[in-house]
Amino acid sequence: MESFLIKGGVPLHGEVTVSGSKNAALPIMAATLLTDEPCVVRGIPDLSDTRFMAQILASLGAAVKFSGGTLTVRAKKLRGYADYELVRRMRGSICIAGPLLARLRKTRISLPGGCVIGARPINLHLKGFEALGAQIRIEAGYVDASAKKIVGSTVFLGGRAGSTVLGTANVMMAACLADGVTVIESAACEPEIVDLANFLTAMGAKISGAGSPAVTIIGVDRLNGVEYEVIPDRIEAATFAIAAAATDGEVTIKNCRPDHLRAVLDKLGEAGATVRQRRDELTVRRAKNLRAVDVTTLPYSGFPTDVQAQMTALLTLAPGISIVTERIFESRFMHVSELARLGADIEIEGPSAIVKGGRPLSGAPVMASDLRASAALVIAGLAAKGTTQVNRIYHLDRGYERMDVKLRKLGARIRRVQEK
Ligand code: EPZ
Repeated sequence: MESFLIKGGVPLHGEVTVSGSKNAALPIMAATLLTDEPCVVRGIPDLSDTRFMAQILASLGAAVKFSGGTLTVRAKKLRGYADYELVRRMRGSICIAGPLLARLRKTRISLPGGCVIGARPINLHLKGFEALGAQIRIEAGYVDASAKKIVGSTVFLGGRAGSTVLGTANVMMAACLADGVTVIESAACEPEIVDLANFLTAMGAKISGAGSPAVTIIGVDRLNGVEYEVIPDRIEAATFAIAAAATDGEVTIKNCRPDHLRAVLDKLGEAGATVRQRRDELTVRRAKNLRAVDVTTLPYSGFPTDVQAQMTALLTLAPGISIVTERIFESRFMHVSELARLGADIEIEGPSAIVKGGRPLSGAPVMASDLRASAALVIAGLAAKGTTQVNRIYHLDRGYERMDVKLRKLGARIRRVQEK
């Protein structure tokens, strides 16, 4: 297994280019199953998650080529049953269910199970499929969904934490080939949902309202092949913006969409960073001193839960008390005990982390537990005095393309080593 060795204390300087969005790419890769014509999708980041998804598409019978960020898929003949081992290893693969149900009227996939950040049930996905006329059976760790006909209908998809991103994606894809009109209420408004709707529309789907809580899909008989480019990764852009502020550096982030980052940039400004924006570029640096701020994660356009850990790491450096409240996932503070190993002072109170910031961090060996927690540990290691070893970086490689290479270009002293 690999680790990162980071010698901290170096302000990051220079330019970094953001890769395509992992969370836009995964549902779009699944959507290629909706047609038997060739699809070409560009700008897909080379990550373990996207490589997994390509393997899953191939295991369903599609002809798949994925190299250099370009995916070519032709799903001429498909089987509705996805390999348990593959699906089990990546939660995001749940979004093949909607396209398979739409195309084959049946699908059987393994239940994704929980993960370290929360229970993550799929009841809302299944509620949506049932509303479209599917029979659902859960047995032996599998979900069987089948329908004589997929019929458009209105379904409310709001849950305990508000909307569901992949639930909205799955129902939207299933509804594309349905008889009649589907309305998804309390739909997720994330930019990744808008990107998926744009991809489906380019394939010939009839969708309106994507990006708002009410999405309407008028079913069509068939969809055609298409060429498309996914949006840049807003979470990666946010991660580099926070790293610039944490190391007291100045970084220009290229190929990003500032309009997808309003809540993050607003909080960064409050915390003492200056942000210069251009159409597809951001320059972030620390103004003078960092300031303590309160952050609460919410569905889009609120502050993203996928940036909570990185922001918590930054706030350990800001003098004063910051309260970080996680409203989306019930156990997404795995990074807190590891940040404490670097000298941070954080207490967990229910859904909130009380951060007593301003104490300098010092390097230590720490353990990554999930994708965004590992990004937080890298940021803290870059800001800390001395050497930090971040272990189990396979978590990070799931969602950040060549992060160490990009950071070295910004002057970071970071290298990838084999864990002893
Ligand atoms: C997507 O996951 C992202 N993953 C997650 O990013 C992100 O954290 C999440 O949306 C929220 O923004 C991908 O796009 C691949 P949800 P998703 O369904 O769709 C509850 C990362 O770091 N819920 O919007 O699986 C659920 O338990 C990853 O890149 C139900 O109760 O998340 C959670 O509390 C991590 N029933 C909340 O809703 C359901 O049927 C939001 O989950 C579905 C969800």
